[in-house]
Amino acid sequence: MTVDFSNVANKYHKLGVNQQSAGVKLINLLTLCGSESVIDIGCGNGRLTSLLAKLTTGNVVGIDISKGMIKSAREFLPRGRFIEGDIETLPLASSGKFDVAFINSVMHWFRTPEKTLKRIQQLLTSSSCLAVQTPLKTWCPELQEAIEKTVKTSQVSHAYSNYHCPWFHLRSADEYVEYFKNLGFNVGYAEEDSVFTELHNPLKLWDLFESGPAHAYFDPNNFSAPMPANLPATFKTVFCSIAEGMAINNAEYKRAFFILRVA
Ligand SMILES: C[S@@+](CC[C@H](N)C(=O)[O-])C[C@H]1O[C@@H](n2cnc3c(N)ncnc32)[C@H](O)[C@@H]1O
Repeated sequence: MTVDFSNVANKYHKLGVNQQSAGVKLINLLTLCGSESVIDIGCGNGRLTSLLAKLTTGNVVGIDISKGMIKSAREFLPRGRFIEGDIETLPLASSGKFDVAFINSVMHWFRTPEKTLKRIQQLLTSSSCLAVQTPLKTWCPELQEAIEKTVKTSQVSHAYSNYHCPWFHLRSADEYVEYFKNLGFNVGYAEEDSVFTELHNPLKLWDLFESGPAHAYFDPNNFSAPMPANLPATFKTVFCSIAEGMAINNAEYKRAFFILRVA
């Protein structure tokens, strides 16, 4: 029961603009000195892994559960070290320790976030840091409105009556701070902010949907009854017509950034 981003691996660098710009900000918050070892958890297509690798001579490893994403990462950075695996179940005992664990736009996909963050502590020492960027519960009001309107339409509402949302989201950076403290982390830095994507064409909202949320809404694992095969196509038609009708110029992306250490 795992998410699969393989179908967007080759276009993720164009679609995932919010995730990747947030990742660049998270890298800058790290202020690396140049010799750190780094594990990029949920590295996706390796674009951020490659930026990290430019900033340190230390060992840089990317891990991702998606076969397609790992293939794309290896093509993009042939000399990079990429592992296909699920951070929630992969044996970590022989992985060694890292100075930095980097988790950008991934934590909300963890099926068992508390357990997984505890597992990730095994990869860290008392001087290591964990850098996290994650979307807030109201991550994109415009996109969420379009999704909510779509799932209520007669064309798809029946299928979505059997849907459960797989994401782990909290409402604010303050809530995450409490959450991380309870899991045994010291919080050195916490910030929430927003960025806006200009929607020259309202269908750009579909790109934002396809870059991430679609992998929940079209994942058969998230349905308690068989997911209709034509659901993605029907959803897209309805969603795009709703997005056009909404006539919005900007889509907000609300995210939070954290630099943590094991307490
Ligand atoms: C939105 S993408 C972010 C990719 C990259 N970190 C970035 O910001 O560009 C989420 C990635 O997390 C990966 N992922 C989700 N759950 C995972 C898990 N349990 N173990 C490893 N990777 C996971 C997905 O396959 C996907 O590539």
